[in-house]
Amino acid sequence: MARITASVYTSHVPAIGAALDLGRSGDDYWKPVFAGYDFSKQWIRDNPPDVVFLVYNDHATAFSLDLIPTFALGTASQFQPADEGWGPRPVPVVYGHPELAAHIAQSVIQDDFDLTLVNRMEVDHGLTVPLSLMFGQPEAWPCKVIPLAVNVVQYPAPSGRRCFQIGQAIRKAVESFDADLNVQIWGTGGMSHQLQGARAGLINPVWDNRFLDRLIEDPADLALLPHIDYVREAGSEGIELVMWLIARGAMDNASKPIVKHRFYHVPASNTAVGHLILENR
Ligand code: DHB
Ligand code: FE
Repeated sequence: MARITASVYTSHVPAIGAALDLGRSGDDYWKPVFAGYDFSKQWIRDNPPDVVFLVYNDHATAFSLDLIPTFALGTASQFQPADEGWGPRPVPVVYGHPELAAHIAQSVIQDDFDLTLVNRMEVDHGLTVPLSLMFGQPEAWPCKVIPLAVNVVQYPAPSGRRCFQIGQAIRKAVESFDADLNVQIWGTGGMSHQLQGARAGLINPVWDNRFLDRLIEDPADLALLPHIDYVREAGSEGIELVMWLIARGAMDNASKPIVKHRFYHVPASNTAVGHLILENR
């Protein structure tokens, strides 16, 4: 059977992708950001996934205001990197796993979570920057990726509770797929940041670190946090953090996870960079 062995959490700041693509990752500004992922690159070489189920948000790239799915599952065999205004990032095409994605769709929808299925979609920095942070700059991504695009851009965003529950349903779906696959689930976006308005530039390290503590220790309780608390404490784009609860919900919640790595750094563009690797026992 397929198994979810670990979860990875990371910010997806687009300037991180640009720093890599433009050969600037050794600059004084970026060095400490990338240093936080040295452990992770070795860890994922030692623990290579067959499939990454990658929870992220589209930033009005694949979906415009014409159509706003709350939970959109990528069922295609491949996903091209999107042009976000400067041409597509020079990163490999993302290969999906249509059979596992179709099985997850069947299981999760029949478990009462009404996913939108997407058979054609380009993927933006929300998905490609986490891949770059974990895998560096390979010729081809070393695993299949199933994208789950969550709407956190246009109100209303889904609740943390709903995200946690859908993570539990995803775990059940993966573990009933009849193939010997090592699956990781990644929750991306965040941490605190606000990109517009009077509070543009807001960062809240105390709140962010408490979020990391609670995500590790008591995610079911953290899932009850109302969306307005994210916005007030972590900024308007801090709401991206609800996606981390999907990945956490998909972990084995009967026992405490092993914290393999924890990293937090400010500044990186306008965003506090947070990163965790949790393994199931
Ligand atoms: C930034 C962060 C984001 O999450 C994003 O989607 C766009 C920009 C930033 O820090 O600049
Ligand atoms: Fe974002």
